[in-house]
Amino acid sequence: MANILSGKKGIIFGALDNQSIAWKVAERCVEEGAQIVLTNAPVALRMGEVNALAEKCKAPLIAADATSLEDLENLFQKSMEHFGGKVDFVLHSIGMSVNVRKGKAYTDLNYDWMQKTFDVSAISFHKMMHAIWKLDAINEWGSILALSYIAAQRVFPDYSEMAESKALLESFARSFGYHFGTAKKVRVNTISQSPTMTTAGQGVKGFTDFFGYADKMSPLGNAPALDCANYCVALFSDLTRYVTMQNLYHDGGFSTMGMNPALVESK
Ligand SMILES: NC(=O)c1ccc[n+]([C@@H]2O[C@H](COP(=O)([O-])OP(=O)(O)OC[C@H]3O[C@@H](n4cnc5c(N)ncnc54)[C@H](O)[C@@H]3O)[C@@H](O)[C@H]2O)c1
Repeated sequence: MANILSGKKGIIFGALDNQSIAWKVAERCVEEGAQIVLTNAPVALRMGEVNALAEKCKAPLIAADATSLEDLENLFQKSMEHFGGKVDFVLHSIGMSVNVRKGKAYTDLNYDWMQKTFDVSAISFHKMMHAIWKLDAINEWGSILALSYIAAQRVFPDYSEMAESKALLESFARSFGYHFGTAKKVRVNTISQSPTMTTAGQGVKGFTDFFGYADKMSPLGNAPALDCANYCVALFSDLTRYVTMQNLYHDGGFSTMGMNPALVESK
Protein backbone atom coordinates (compact mmCIF):
# COMPACT_ATOMS: atom_id res chain seq x y z
CA MET A 1 0.00 0.00 0.00
CA ALA A 2 1.29 3.49 -0.83
CA ASN A 3 2.25 5.78 2.05
CA ILE A 4 -0.96 7.53 3.03
CA LEU A 5 0.63 10.91 3.83
CA SER A 6 2.83 11.01 0.77
CA GLY A 7 3.34 14.63 -0.37
CA LYS A 8 1.72 16.10 2.75
CA LYS A 9 3.31 18.71 5.00
CA GLY A 10 2.49 19.15 8.65
CA ILE A 11 3.37 20.80 11.94
CA ILE A 12 3.54 18.77 15.15
CA PHE A 13 3.28 20.53 18.51
CA GLY A 14 4.21 18.89 21.80
CA ALA A 15 6.93 16.24 21.36
CA LEU A 16 8.92 16.46 24.61
CA ASP A 17 10.52 13.02 24.98
CA ASN A 18 10.09 9.59 23.43
CA GLN A 19 7.07 8.89 25.68
CA SER A 20 5.15 11.87 24.25
CA ILE A 21 2.18 11.02 22.05
CA ALA A 22 3.38 13.75 19.63
CA TRP A 23 6.76 12.01 19.34
CA LYS A 24 5.06 8.88 18.02
CA VAL A 25 2.82 10.92 15.73
CA ALA A 26 5.88 12.65 14.25
CA GLU A 27 7.60 9.31 13.58
CA ARG A 28 4.49 7.76 12.04
CA CYS A 29 3.77 10.79 9.83
CA VAL A 30 7.28 10.68 8.41
CA GLU A 31 7.07 6.90 7.92
CA GLU A 32 3.88 7.54 5.95
CA GLY A 33 5.65 9.95 3.62
CA ALA A 34 4.94 13.36 5.19
CA GLN A 35 7.39 16.20 5.70
CA ILE A 36 7.07 17.84 9.09
CA VAL A 37 8.12 20.79 11.24
CA LEU A 38 8.45 20.15 14.98
CA THR A 39 7.64 22.79 17.57
CA ASN A 40 7.54 23.14 21.33
CA ALA A 41 7.87 25.83 24.00
CA PRO A 42 11.40 27.33 24.23
CA VAL A 43 11.88 25.79 27.68
CA ALA A 44 11.03 22.32 26.35
CA LEU A 45 13.44 22.70 23.43
CA ARG A 46 16.22 23.66 25.86
CA MET A 47 15.83 20.23 27.49
CA GLY A 48 17.21 18.99 24.18
CA GLU A 49 15.64 15.52 23.85
CA VAL A 50 13.61 16.54 20.84
CA ASN A 51 16.80 17.20 18.83
CA ALA A 52 17.15 13.45 18.28
CA LEU A 53 13.60 13.30 16.87
CA ALA A 54 14.25 16.29 14.62
CA GLU A 55 17.33 14.59 13.25
CA LYS A 56 15.52 11.30 12.70
CA CYS A 57 12.58 13.01 10.98
CA LYS A 58 14.78 15.49 9.06
CA ALA A 59 12.54 18.17 10.50
CA PRO A 60 13.32 21.76 11.47
CA LEU A 61 12.65 22.62 15.11
CA ILE A 62 10.97 25.99 15.59
CA ALA A 63 10.35 27.27 19.12
CA ALA A 64 6.89 28.67 19.88
CA ASP A 65 5.15 29.29 23.17
CA ALA A 66 1.65 28.22 22.17
CA THR A 67 0.14 30.95 24.37
CA SER A 68 1.82 33.64 22.23
CA LEU A 69 0.03 34.62 19.04
CA GLU A 70 3.24 36.31 17.90
CA ASP A 71 5.25 33.09 18.33
CA LEU A 72 2.54 31.13 16.54
CA GLU A 73 2.45 33.51 13.57
CA ASN A 74 6.24 33.33 13.35
CA LEU A 75 6.05 29.52 13.43
CA PHE A 76 3.50 29.28 10.60
CA GLN A 77 5.33 31.90 8.54
CA LYS A 78 8.68 30.10 8.91
CA SER A 79 7.09 26.71 8.24
CA MET A 80 5.53 27.95 5.00
CA GLU A 81 8.92 29.35 3.94
CA HIS A 82 10.50 25.98 4.75
CA PHE A 83 7.88 23.98 2.85
CA GLY A 84 7.58 26.50 0.02
CA GLY A 85 3.81 26.59 0.53
CA LYS A 86 0.94 25.96 2.93
CA VAL A 87 0.67 23.04 5.35
CA ASP A 88 -1.80 20.13 5.15
CA PHE A 89 -2.09 19.09 8.79
CA VAL A 90 -1.41 20.34 12.31
CA LEU A 91 -1.37 18.47 15.63
CA HIS A 92 -1.97 20.28 18.94
CA SER A 93 -0.60 17.93 21.65
CA ILE A 94 -0.23 20.33 24.57
CA GLY A 95 -1.43 20.14 28.13
CA MET A 96 -0.36 21.45 31.52
CA SER A 97 -2.21 22.30 34.75
CA VAL A 98 -0.58 24.60 37.27
CA ASN A 99 -3.01 23.69 40.06
CA VAL A 100 -2.42 19.96 39.48
CA ARG A 101 1.34 20.50 39.45
CA LYS A 102 1.17 22.40 42.72
CA GLY A 103 -1.18 19.87 44.31
CA LYS A 104 -4.06 22.35 44.92
CA ALA A 105 -7.41 20.76 45.82
CA TYR A 106 -10.23 21.24 43.27
CA THR A 107 -12.33 22.90 45.98
CA ASP A 108 -9.59 25.49 46.59
CA LEU A 109 -8.14 26.35 43.18
CA ASN A 110 -5.91 29.33 42.53
CA TYR A 111 -7.61 31.32 39.74
CA ASP A 112 -4.44 32.90 38.33
CA TRP A 113 -3.06 29.42 37.89
CA MET A 114 -6.38 28.26 36.42
CA GLN A 115 -6.16 31.03 33.79
CA LYS A 116 -2.66 29.85 32.92
CA THR A 117 -3.88 26.26 32.64
CA PHE A 118 -6.71 27.24 30.29
CA ASP A 119 -4.34 29.41 28.25
CA VAL A 120 -1.74 26.65 27.78
CA SER A 121 -4.08 23.68 27.43
CA ALA A 122 -7.06 25.08 25.51
CA ILE A 123 -6.89 28.74 24.43
CA SER A 124 -3.58 27.90 22.71
CA PHE A 125 -5.67 25.75 20.32
CA HIS A 126 -7.82 28.75 19.41
CA LYS A 127 -4.70 30.91 19.04
CA MET A 128 -3.09 28.28 16.83
CA MET A 129 -6.17 28.22 14.57
CA HIS A 130 -6.31 32.02 14.68
CA ALA A 131 -2.72 32.19 13.35
CA ILE A 132 -3.47 29.58 10.63
CA TRP A 133 -6.61 31.50 9.63
CA LYS A 134 -4.93 34.90 9.57
CA LEU A 135 -1.95 33.72 7.51
CA ASP A 136 -4.10 31.44 5.33
CA ALA A 137 -1.53 28.78 6.20
CA ILE A 138 -3.44 25.55 5.48
CA ASN A 139 -4.41 23.94 2.16
CA GLU A 140 -7.99 22.99 1.24
CA TRP A 141 -8.91 19.57 2.66
CA GLY A 142 -6.31 20.08 5.39
CA SER A 143 -6.75 18.59 8.86
CA ILE A 144 -6.33 20.18 12.30
CA LEU A 145 -6.31 17.91 15.34
CA ALA A 146 -5.96 18.22 19.12
CA LEU A 147 -5.73 15.60 21.85
CA SER A 148 -8.37 15.44 24.56
CA TYR A 149 -9.52 13.28 27.45
CA ILE A 150 -12.91 11.92 28.57
CA ALA A 151 -12.80 14.05 31.75
CA ALA A 152 -14.36 16.70 29.47
CA GLN A 153 -17.62 14.69 29.70
CA ARG A 154 -17.35 12.61 32.91
CA VAL A 155 -15.99 13.31 36.38
CA PHE A 156 -12.45 12.17 37.17
CA PRO A 157 -11.73 14.03 40.43
CA ASP A 158 -7.92 13.96 40.25
CA TYR A 159 -7.93 15.46 36.75
CA SER A 160 -9.03 18.74 38.37
CA GLU A 161 -9.21 21.87 36.16
CA MET A 162 -7.85 19.92 33.19
CA ALA A 163 -11.42 18.62 32.81
CA GLU A 164 -12.67 22.13 32.03
CA SER A 165 -9.61 22.74 29.81
CA LYS A 166 -10.53 19.73 27.71
CA ALA A 167 -14.20 20.76 27.53
CA LEU A 168 -13.06 24.15 26.22
CA LEU A 169 -10.61 22.53 23.79
CA GLU A 170 -13.33 20.31 22.32
CA SER A 171 -15.70 23.23 22.01
CA PHE A 172 -13.07 25.27 20.12
CA ALA A 173 -12.74 22.35 17.68
CA ARG A 174 -16.48 22.49 16.95
CA SER A 175 -16.76 26.28 16.71
CA PHE A 176 -13.62 26.91 14.65
CA GLY A 177 -14.42 23.74 12.67
CA TYR A 178 -17.53 25.49 11.36
CA HIS A 179 -15.51 28.46 10.08
CA PHE A 180 -12.68 26.35 8.65
CA GLY A 181 -15.11 23.94 6.98
CA THR A 182 -17.25 26.64 5.42
CA ALA A 183 -14.50 28.95 4.22
CA LYS A 184 -11.59 26.63 3.55
CA LYS A 185 -12.77 22.99 3.40
CA VAL A 186 -10.49 22.24 6.35
CA ARG A 187 -11.53 19.82 9.09
CA VAL A 188 -11.01 20.24 12.85
CA ASN A 189 -11.34 17.36 15.33
CA THR A 190 -10.23 16.19 18.74
CA ILE A 191 -9.17 12.66 19.69
CA SER A 192 -10.11 11.59 23.21
CA GLN A 193 -7.26 9.26 24.13
CA SER A 194 -6.94 6.57 26.86
CA PRO A 195 -4.67 7.29 29.83
CA THR A 196 -1.12 7.04 28.46
CA MET A 197 2.22 6.83 30.34
CA THR A 198 3.77 10.22 29.44
CA THR A 199 5.17 13.19 31.36
CA ALA A 200 1.82 15.02 31.26
CA GLY A 201 -0.14 11.84 32.10
CA GLN A 202 2.01 10.87 35.05
CA GLY A 203 1.61 14.38 36.49
CA VAL A 204 -1.95 13.44 37.47
CA LYS A 205 -2.26 12.18 41.07
CA GLY A 206 -2.70 8.40 41.36
CA PHE A 207 -2.04 7.97 37.64
CA THR A 208 -0.97 4.33 37.90
CA ASP A 209 -4.25 3.29 39.57
CA PHE A 210 -6.17 5.41 37.12
CA PHE A 211 -4.35 3.78 34.20
CA GLY A 212 -5.03 0.27 35.57
CA TYR A 213 -8.70 1.01 36.19
CA ALA A 214 -9.26 2.28 32.63
CA ASP A 215 -7.31 -0.66 31.25
CA LYS A 216 -9.61 -3.14 33.01
CA MET A 217 -12.80 -1.23 32.18
CA SER A 218 -12.02 -1.06 28.45
CA PRO A 219 -12.89 -4.23 26.52
CA LEU A 220 -9.83 -3.70 24.30
CA GLY A 221 -7.63 -2.34 27.10
CA ASN A 222 -6.08 1.14 27.06
CA ALA A 223 -5.10 2.39 23.63
CA PRO A 224 -1.29 2.73 23.42
CA ALA A 225 0.42 5.93 22.21
CA LEU A 226 1.54 4.29 18.97
CA ASP A 227 -2.05 3.38 18.10
CA CYS A 228 -3.09 6.94 18.92
CA ALA A 229 -0.42 8.08 16.46
CA ASN A 230 -1.86 5.74 13.82
CA TYR A 231 -5.32 7.24 14.38
CA CYS A 232 -3.83 10.75 13.98
CA VAL A 233 -2.23 9.66 10.70
CA ALA A 234 -5.63 8.39 9.50
CA LEU A 235 -7.21 11.74 10.37
CA PHE A 236 -4.48 13.66 8.53
CA SER A 237 -4.91 11.46 5.45
CA ASP A 238 -7.36 11.87 2.57
CA LEU A 239 -9.24 8.79 3.83
CA THR A 240 -11.13 10.94 6.38
CA ARG A 241 -11.88 14.11 4.40
CA TYR A 242 -15.46 14.54 5.60
CA VAL A 243 -14.87 13.91 9.32
CA THR A 244 -15.04 17.25 11.09
CA MET A 245 -16.14 18.97 14.31
CA GLN A 246 -15.99 15.64 16.16
CA ASN A 247 -14.59 14.46 19.43
CA LEU A 248 -13.44 10.93 18.52
CA TYR A 249 -12.86 8.38 21.26
CA HIS A 250 -9.68 6.35 20.96
CA ASP A 251 -10.00 4.47 24.21
CA GLY A 252 -10.52 0.72 23.71
CA GLY A 253 -14.26 1.15 24.35
CA PHE A 254 -13.95 2.82 27.78
CA SER A 255 -16.36 5.68 27.00
CA THR A 256 -19.27 3.33 26.24
CA MET A 257 -18.86 1.04 29.26
CA GLY A 258 -21.06 1.23 32.35
CA MET A 259 -19.80 -1.66 34.46
CA ASN A 260 -17.22 -4.29 33.62
CA PRO A 261 -17.32 -7.54 35.63
CA ALA A 262 -13.50 -7.59 35.38
CA LEU A 263 -13.52 -4.75 37.91
CA VAL A 264 -15.79 -6.46 40.43
CA GLU A 265 -13.56 -8.00 43.08
CA SER A 266 -15.89 -10.94 43.88
CA LYS A 267 -15.70 -12.17 40.27
N1 LIG B 1 -1.05 11.05 28.75
C1 LIG B 1 -2.35 10.86 28.88
O1 LIG B 1 -2.82 10.07 29.71
C2 LIG B 1 -3.29 11.61 27.97
C3 LIG B 1 -4.59 11.14 27.79
C4 LIG B 1 -5.47 11.86 26.96
C5 LIG B 1 -5.02 13.02 26.35
N2 LIG B 1 -3.73 13.46 26.55
C6 LIG B 1 -3.31 14.71 25.92
O2 LIG B 1 -2.29 14.46 24.99
C7 LIG B 1 -1.57 15.67 24.80
C8 LIG B 1 -0.07 15.37 24.86
O3 LIG B 1 0.32 15.00 26.14
P1 LIG B 1 1.31 13.79 26.45
O4 LIG B 1 0.56 12.86 27.32
O5 LIG B 1 1.96 13.30 25.22
O6 LIG B 1 2.39 14.49 27.42
P2 LIG B 1 3.73 15.34 27.17
O7 LIG B 1 4.07 15.89 28.51
O8 LIG B 1 4.73 14.50 26.48
O9 LIG B 1 3.27 16.53 26.20
C9 LIG B 1 2.76 17.77 26.64
C10 LIG B 1 3.45 18.83 25.80
O10 LIG B 1 2.91 20.14 26.03
C11 LIG B 1 4.01 21.04 25.81
N3 LIG B 1 3.72 22.38 26.31
C12 LIG B 1 3.45 22.75 27.60
N4 LIG B 1 3.31 24.09 27.66
C13 LIG B 1 3.48 24.57 26.40
C14 LIG B 1 3.45 25.88 25.81
N5 LIG B 1 3.21 26.97 26.55
N6 LIG B 1 3.68 26.00 24.48
C15 LIG B 1 3.94 24.91 23.71
N7 LIG B 1 3.96 23.65 24.21
C16 LIG B 1 3.74 23.49 25.53
C17 LIG B 1 5.13 20.36 26.60
O11 LIG B 1 6.39 20.91 26.36
C18 LIG B 1 4.97 18.93 26.13
O12 LIG B 1 5.73 18.70 24.96
C19 LIG B 1 -2.06 16.65 25.87
O13 LIG B 1 -3.04 17.49 25.31
C20 LIG B 1 -2.69 15.72 26.88
O14 LIG B 1 -3.64 16.36 27.69
C21 LIG B 1 -2.87 12.76 27.33
